[in-house]
Amino acid sequence: MAKTKSRFPFTSSPKGWFCVGLSRDLPVGGVLPVQAFEHDLVLFRGEDGKPALLGAFCPHMGAHLGHGGKVVGDNVKCPFHAWEFNGEGKCAKIPYAQRIPPKASVRKWEIVEKNGLIMAWNNIEGGGPEWQLPDIPEVGSPDWTEYEVREWDIKTHSMEMAENQVDVAHFQYLHGTLNYPNSVAEENGHMMTVTSKADMGTSRGTTQGGIQSTSWGFGFQTIRFSGIVDTLLVAAVTPKDEETVHVRFCFMVKKTGGADVTRGVGKAFISEVSRQLEQDIPVWENKVFVHPPMLCEGDGPIPLYRRWLRQFFPAGTFEGMNLTSEQANA
Ligand code: FES
Ligand SMILES: [Fe+2]
Repeated sequence: MAKTKSRFPFTSSPKGWFCVGLSRDLPVGGVLPVQAFEHDLVLFRGEDGKPALLGAFCPHMGAHLGHGGKVVGDNVKCPFHAWEFNGEGKCAKIPYAQRIPPKASVRKWEIVEKNGLIMAWNNIEGGGPEWQLPDIPEVGSPDWTEYEVREWDIKTHSMEMAENQVDVAHFQYLHGTLNYPNSVAEENGHMMTVTSKADMGTSRGTTQGGIQSTSWGFGFQTIRFSGIVDTLLVAAVTPKDEETVHVRFCFMVKKTGGADVTRGVGKAFISEVSRQLEQDIPVWENKVFVHPPMLCEGDGPIPLYRRWLRQFFPAGTFEGMNLTSEQANA
């Protein structure tokens, strides 16, 4: 591979809702530095309980509000000279000045808090949210366990990761599943649902399992596994910088058959899904993006996926694109 060529000659930050933090990591008064969408940001929760996401760098002299900033009332206070910014990003107070410079503000990012996640809307072309995120009924239900969270930073692009679900052949050859799943994908605007059936090996023999994944753009996905015990993975992948995505996998298990069984199933489920992800990582971190891909019979609904993903990029991004492996190898 020619090292000077960009692996992804288009934006690393497609349009959509992306997770910038877990609710439980941001108590009232909490301040966190965040990297997302190739920006440095600050996430904080004022005393009114509402989270806010702002550009990190103070307009006064550039201090990072997320490193040493403190919540005062519903504002975040800069650690350097104590200017305060409200949740709209406007400077609300300078303790040593009467007059606030009219342009003293930082960019505010649109966020929503749902399902225990703080999600930010990103659109490099500007414009507010074009769709809403769902409430997931299992989250907070007494019949389900709380989130067990695993996180990774991976050197890849969100759409490469999302393609995994329709790439049926890799399950058998990379992940060693018993056979490759029979998957049907359906697109519906910004949503895509993939329903798969696959044999699963268990200590009691082979069981037929079902997997249903629903994606709301690239940043939010639920994956429901049935067959042995119902399990749910809420997956949130956020573009961080040009080369990196941050992955949060939030696992839940339906409480059936006593706490020990639930705990055992939960552990096995988390380690199997994490094992599969960790098998994908070296492929993702070293591959090039080929478009259009050279597909063959049995490759699954990849063309549908490639059509669906275009809506999250500026118009024309993939038109006439010719990124072949020959060029990557030239
Ligand atoms: S740099 Fe933030 S108040 Fe001065
Ligand atoms: Fe995979």
